[in-house]
Amino acid sequence: MKKRVLPFFAIAALAIACGQSSTPATETTAPAAEPATEAAAPAPEATATVEVPAEINDLLNKHTCLTCHSATEKIIGPPYQEVAAKNYTDEQIVELIHAPKPEHWPDYPPMAPLPNVPKEDAMKIAGWINSLK
Ligand code: HEC
Repeated sequence: MKKRVLPFFAIAALAIACGQSSTPATETTAPAAEPATEAAAPAPEATATVEVPAEINDLLNKHTCLTCHSATEKIIGPPYQEVAAKNYTDEQIVELIHAPKPEHWPDYPPMAPLPNVPKEDAMKIAGWINSLK
């Protein structure tokens, strides 16, 4: 006798199919009453995020400027926004990169001169710094 019917396959299939009925999401009621004591102030500070163009970011990165400078925040050196506020010409900024004048920033340690930054790169950086005004 070779009666090897295995009907449990069919039963198993049925069981799987039935076990998947999804229950509708139970609704959670949101806490409606929140005390409006907190003033949601949008803080109009000068630290709005500044978009650094990719080309400039590459230059700043390559010449290690980003180690000490950010567009908006004081790291080791002053934020570029504050440098922009000094109203230098682009040429002056290039000179200051090559030969910093620490007396301009009494609250900071002196920046090491970076004479190896090519003038062309420095000019692009300077133009961008001055665009932050
Ligand atoms: C090791 C840290 C450090 C690095 C790297 C650095 N700086 Fe500075 N930078 C400073 C500090 C500190 C000051 C403020 C003191 C000073 O001017 O000497 C400063 C000042 C400046 C100023 C203002 C100059 C002035 O007299 O007002 C400019 C512009 C500037 N940095 C640009 C750059 C650029 C561009 C690079 C990259 C090519 C760079 N720095 C790399 C630390 C750094």
